[in-house]
Amino acid sequence: MHEDIVAALERVGIRHPFPIQEMAIPLALAGHDMIGQARTGTGKTLAFGISLLQRVVLADEPGYADLGIPGAPQALVVCPTRELASQVSKDLSTASTVRRARVLTVYGGVGYEPQLEALAAGVDVVVGTPGRLLDLVGRRALNLKQIRMLVLDEADEMLDLGFLPDVEKLLAQTPPRRQTMLFSATMPSAIVGLSRRHLNQPMNIRAESAEDTTTVPATTQFVYQAHDMDKPEVVARILQAEGREKMMIFCRTKRTAQRVAEDLAGRGFAAAPIHGDLNQSQREKSLRRFREGQVDVLVATDVAARGIDVTGVTHVINYECPDDDKTYVHRIGRTGRAGATGVAVTFVDWADVTRWKVINKALGLSFETPVETYSTSAHLFTDHGIDPGAKSRVAPPKEVEDRPEGSRPPAPAERERPREPRPRRQRSRRRTHNGEVVREGAASAPTSAQTSPSSPQSSPSSPQSSPNGTAEGSAPRRRRRRRRGGGGGDGQTTAGQEQSS
Ligand SMILES: Nc1ncnc2c1ncn2[C@@H]1O[C@H](COP(=O)(O)OP(=O)(O)OP(=O)(O)O)[C@@H](O)[C@H]1O
Ligand SMILES: [Mg+2]
Repeated sequence: MHEDIVAALERVGIRHPFPIQEMAIPLALAGHDMIGQARTGTGKTLAFGISLLQRVVLADEPGYADLGIPGAPQALVVCPTRELASQVSKDLSTASTVRRARVLTVYGGVGYEPQLEALAAGVDVVVGTPGRLLDLVGRRALNLKQIRMLVLDEADEMLDLGFLPDVEKLLAQTPPRRQTMLFSATMPSAIVGLSRRHLNQPMNIRAESAEDTTTVPATTQFVYQAHDMDKPEVVARILQAEGREKMMIFCRTKRTAQRVAEDLAGRGFAAAPIHGDLNQSQREKSLRRFREGQVDVLVATDVAARGIDVTGVTHVINYECPDDDKTYVHRIGRTGRAGATGVAVTFVDWADVTRWKVINKALGLSFETPVETYSTSAHLFTDHGIDPGAKSRVAPPKEVEDRPEGSRPPAPAERERPREPRPRRQRSRRRTHNGEVVREGAASAPTSAQTSPSSPQSSPSSPQSSPNGTAEGSAPRRRRRRRRGGGGGDGQTTAGQEQSS
């Protein structure tokens, strides 16, 4: 490999390039379009990052004056989340400490001023999320007509329906004769097909052979069929697993992520939430505290599923079954990075068994039938080297620092208590006709069937008994509203919807 590149890698403390870097960098430097696929945590950022930085013409170099639009960026990296844009930008800045490129991060949820000022002063590389990028283009503060290199990080997500319209608008702003590079750990063939519209004779680069697993082999996976009410207890035990350092816990909704973080803090663990109901500074604070180790449990929605690289994450828990195989791969890819080992535990609710089977099959995993697991199950303790005496509380309750604006701190005792069915209120209404009472209290006189609390039905898909041995049918079932795919109400959202600006 070219000695410049070896030197650039050494500057970021890297002695030996990873396979994707070895394969992609020379081709990228030669100006080829490419689709680069390599497992999570195997160095894709620097594979495109080093290439961009090498190809940018710096302000003090010959040729800069010939660029045409002084100060307009030459390279653009588009990411699906603000946190990822920020991280990629940091990696690029670190990698450019000798060959000093001006790298700017652009995303929504924060003030415009610093971004406008930096753009006015001139930048070489812009890293951002689609919403704010388009916004700045619309304000004529960002000119993309000089982009020579364009990268879609997490490309399959960027070309999926949630982002595609914005990404196409961005692409239309850039010159057609640019170099385009797509990178992701997952690249469904439909997306590859679609992407060809935007690429020019792309090289397909795969760091692993097609037969290899999409997941990282050094990450040990466990899949448990678990009961929703028992999950906090199971998590509390896994938090006491042998060798546990940092843990990321993924939930499907913002509300669940917040609740689980608060529950774990209430049990004495140092947990922080990250999801789209928190404002940007709260999100950044949670991630920063997790990176720095002030908290060692980060409870997240899929907003943190892709690309986020935090050293020392030994465990990932899928508190709720991921939507699809790609989400599974990216979520568990937050552990087992850069050659480290990891542990990934997935909880599958009874209602999610079919969904899980689809994921299991798509990835060729061996967890067709997840093992039923409770906080008291012997295998839970042996699987993770947990002390048999481990309790579900480890210290006095802690406070979660961040919660959505306007929400009140939860009363811990209230949170997990199943709700009693409320008897229907008897309403007595007084009706009059021409000023005379015609019926007293009869308007909604309840029938006996209406007044007695409805007896809970046990669902055929429910387990026969709950973890504490009581019959499942004897407790009222909590209603959960779920929307999938469409996103929207009830705290349900996809990563794209949470942070698209
Ligand atoms: N050649 C290398 N040797 C050792 N560590 C490396 C090397 N290249 C990158 N790293 C480190 O590996 C980690 C993972 O890299 P990176 O975030 O680029 O992975 P990725 O392939 O983009 O993963 P994901 O698919 O999750 O986005 C980072 O901490 C990075 O600094
Ligand atoms: Mg990445």
